[in-house]
Amino acid sequence: MHRAVYPGSFDPCTKGHLDIIQRASGLFDEVIVGVLYNSAKTPLFSIDERVNILKEVTKGIENVRIEAFAGLSVDFVRKCNAQVIIRGLRAITDFEFELQMAQTNRVLAPDIDTMFLTTSLEYAYLSSTTVKEVASFGADLTEFVPPYVLLKLKEKLS
Ligand code: PNS
Repeated sequence: MHRAVYPGSFDPCTKGHLDIIQRASGLFDEVIVGVLYNSAKTPLFSIDERVNILKEVTKGIENVRIEAFAGLSVDFVRKCNAQVIIRGLRAITDFEFELQMAQTNRVLAPDIDTMFLTTSLEYAYLSSTTVKEVASFGADLTEFVPPYVLLKLKEKLS
């Protein structure tokens, strides 16, 4: 079975993340979205909220599973019995950090490969950080996040 892990913070999941999940699900037998619990960061959405949001927005995609994890991505990938890490690349500005992370992971786990999917053009500008900033000013986020995330952002910021 070809299994991939798509790790990230997903705070919150954007249409760009969902696009990567959908496309990865067509390339692998199973895709596990790994939601990082990072005790050093204070996210807008708790780990349970982020997992639940992802479960809701991916419920139509049969071969996608959502799980929380803490610690190293490669350890989580091994635990999942997966062989590949999926990451989205939006622009050249992502590349340096993503390359460094992929190379670090390759040294830590030579049996695991990182595969980059280039973000679809219509979402290339999107990030969770900008979504949260725009949301804090009450602007319309319909173009940025799935409807369920829109609802959760409104609840959170009201
Ligand atoms: O959505 P993000 O915040 O860009 O995702 C970053 C993530 C979670 C993939 C990265 O921070 C990560 O893998 N964290 C776990 C710790 C780890 O494995 N570090 C080694 C790679 S540098």
